[in-house]
Amino acid sequence: MTLLSIRDVSRRFGGIQAVDNVSFDVPHGAITAVIGPNGAGKTTLFHLISGFLRPDRGSVVFGGAEILGLMPHQIAAKGMARTFQQTRLFPKMTVLENILVGRHLHSRGGFVACMLHLPFTRREERAVREAGREILEFLGLSGQADAEAVRLSYGQQRMVELGRALACEPRVLLLDEPAAGLNMRETAEMGRLISRIRERNVTILLVEHDMSLVMDISDEIVVLSYGQKIAEDVPSAIQRDPEVIRIYLGEGDA
Ligand SMILES: Nc1ncnc2c1ncn2[C@@H]1O[C@H](COP(=O)(O)OP(=O)(O)OP(=O)(O)O)[C@@H](O)[C@H]1O
Ligand SMILES: [Mg+2]
Repeated sequence: MTLLSIRDVSRRFGGIQAVDNVSFDVPHGAITAVIGPNGAGKTTLFHLISGFLRPDRGSVVFGGAEILGLMPHQIAAKGMARTFQQTRLFPKMTVLENILVGRHLHSRGGFVACMLHLPFTRREERAVREAGREILEFLGLSGQADAEAVRLSYGQQRMVELGRALACEPRVLLLDEPAAGLNMRETAEMGRLISRIRERNVTILLVEHDMSLVMDISDEIVVLSYGQKIAEDVPSAIQRDPEVIRIYLGEGDA
């Protein structure tokens, strides 16, 4: 079953066609990866899907309803969460508080209450904290709950970002280069976490440059080059695709 359907989506910046008529389906419960060289349009595509940018044309259907034209918080409220290529934690807040920022979406007043800083009821506050602690346990960060986010290693900060997205209890999770800047051990750990998130029935759309991670955990891979989709297949077929090999080996050539 298709959870997210991207149809003929395009976006231009001045003279650059950043995303060019891209279409693909994200099946429910799968890990779909979007790969491609630097500047291929991967982040722009994520911004278009999650409402941070408006496409010039196209359609994005999520759970059967058109979401194109909605604001990011409206799309989030429908069950889409995302992380960003650059970490966006609040450095002076604790790890648990950073997670709870995501959780506010599910409180009584939802996102609006969160924006207006309306207080939680005490019972709500307790439930919210409990959910946050469960996420920290899932991430293996229980011991860091009360530490300032800035005190954590970079790898752990990326995990907290993931946790904040999970706190929204998303149906689909968009991850933009979750393993960027991580060492080999942390990358392997991130891969295991993403697989375990999928086991919790969360559909995943993943942008990532680490090919061993992508090949390891993805069910389906979409390849972008200069904004266009040039291939879409299972990992074993993508690894053998001559056009994909050419754009990757050709990267950096004179
Ligand atoms: N806000 C913007 N204004 C102008 N040009 C932009 C903007 N955002 C992206 N671009 C351009 O659009 C193209 C696609 O950029 P995008 O960030 O989507 O690529 P990417 O595939 O995510 O690359 P990377 O792997 O380096 O993260 C690039 O040529 C980029 O310079
Ligand atoms: Mg990017």
